[in-house]
Formats: sequence, structure tokens, C-alpha cells
Amino acid sequence: MVIQVNVDFLAKDAAKAAKRGDLIIVIDALRCSSTIVTALANGAKAIIPVKTVHEARRIHAKNPSYILAGERGGLKPRGFNLGNSPLEYTSEKISGKTIILTTTSGTLALTYSREASWVLIGAFLNAKAIAEKASLIANAEDINISIVQAGTNGRFSLEDFICAGAIINELPECNIKLSDAAQASLLAFKHAKDDLLAYVIRSDHSRRLIELGFIKDIEFSCKKDLFSVVPVYRGGVITKIK
Ligand code: MLT
Repeated sequence: MVIQVNVDFLAKDAAKAAKRGDLIIVIDALRCSSTIVTALANGAKAIIPVKTVHEARRIHAKNPSYILAGERGGLKPRGFNLGNSPLEYTSEKISGKTIILTTTSGTLALTYSREASWVLIGAFLNAKAIAEKASLIANAEDINISIVQAGTNGRFSLEDFICAGAIINELPECNIKLSDAAQASLLAFKHAKDDLLAYVIRSDHSRRLIELGFIKDIEFSCKKDLFSVVPVYRGGVITKIK
């Protein structure tokens, strides 16, 4: 069989990909998916992604031992334990813990993909591991792959486009058919791959994060294949595939 690989540009496109029955890979390289990958790599037990700050606070009120985490406008909301910087998610702080996470676009894309039978979470940090697992599952279940970029406040984002190409670059070439958007993201990655940071740093969202003092998050998030964890979102909870 041939696996069709699509790239979609906005969080809400996840709902259409779910309807098509595709395996979805959600990407928000800056910074939500990098934070999720890092948290699981450093021993977090589970992550509950939610759409609103209000919902996050409500779940936390019922489960005070959970860590309340996320951002709005890039910054940690009042009373939250952690923000959305992957560098905050050290094993000392999060090992064995369940984290409630709400971010502007990343957790929104996840909630839009809720109905899909497979939702994986990808970043530069785990591009190779995600591509390998997605390919195995898609082949075994005879389904297509949609890589959904979370975008930035409802707009296209350059870093997610390059990251989609990084994942596609690791897919076995023999039985895949790339959509035009998938081919374009692969071209972008091939152009940028020798200095990812230099290209990612030009994006709108990078500029905003630099203004807020988060340049180290961008540098960290550009480390390709630092981790081999594969986060899966199922039943409202993200855990790592064993
Ligand atoms: C988001 O989900 O919109 C991003 O992760 C925002 C951020 O960089 O904090």
C-alpha cells in the first residue's frame, strides 16, 4: 500500500484530518510540543492538554497534586506552577507527576484532534522517533498520515513548517506519496537542516519569544533528535508509547 502524507497549517485542520481517519502528528515546535516531549523524556507520568486557562484551573482544583502549567501570550498565567519553557521541565520538578497543560495553539490543536484514533506529538527534539513510529502504525493499520502544524495565533508558522519537513525526511521513502505541502516542507527542511536555528529564529513567533527573553528555549527546541520518546494522545491524556 501507499501512504499519503499531508501537511496542514493550522490547529483547526486537525479536526478534518481526524475525520479522514488519518494518523495525526501534531507539531508546535515553539514551544508546546517541545515542552511535552521534554517533560515525558524527563519522567513526567502524563500530561492533560486543555484548551482554556479556566479549564486548567478547574481540573487543578480537583487534583491539587497535579502540576498546573502553560502560557498565555508566552507567559505563565497567574498562580501556575510552570510556564511553557521546555527548559523548566527538569526531572527534579516533574518526574512521576501528572501535568495539566494549556497553551495558545499547541493544546488547541490537540483538542481538535481528539476524535482521531492515533495522535502523536512531534518536535525537532524527537523527529526521527516520531517518523519511525508513525510509519510503523500507518503501515500496520493501512492509514494515511497528516502532520498538523499548530500555527501561531491562527496563522501559518515557519518553524512548524520546517519541523514537518524534518519528520518527513525520516520517513522510509519506498511507500509514501507526499502532498504538495509535504513536498514543500521537505524542501524547506533540506534547505535549513545544516543550521536549523538560523532559519527558525527568523519566524514571527521566534521574534516574539526573543522579546520575552526566551531565546534559550528556541536554541533547545532546535536540537534535532535529542530524545527518542513518542508521545501519544489518547482518551484526553498524553503518555509516552512504551
Ligand atoms: C502555543 O501553544 O501557542 C505556543 O507553545 C506558545 C509558546 O511559545 O509559549
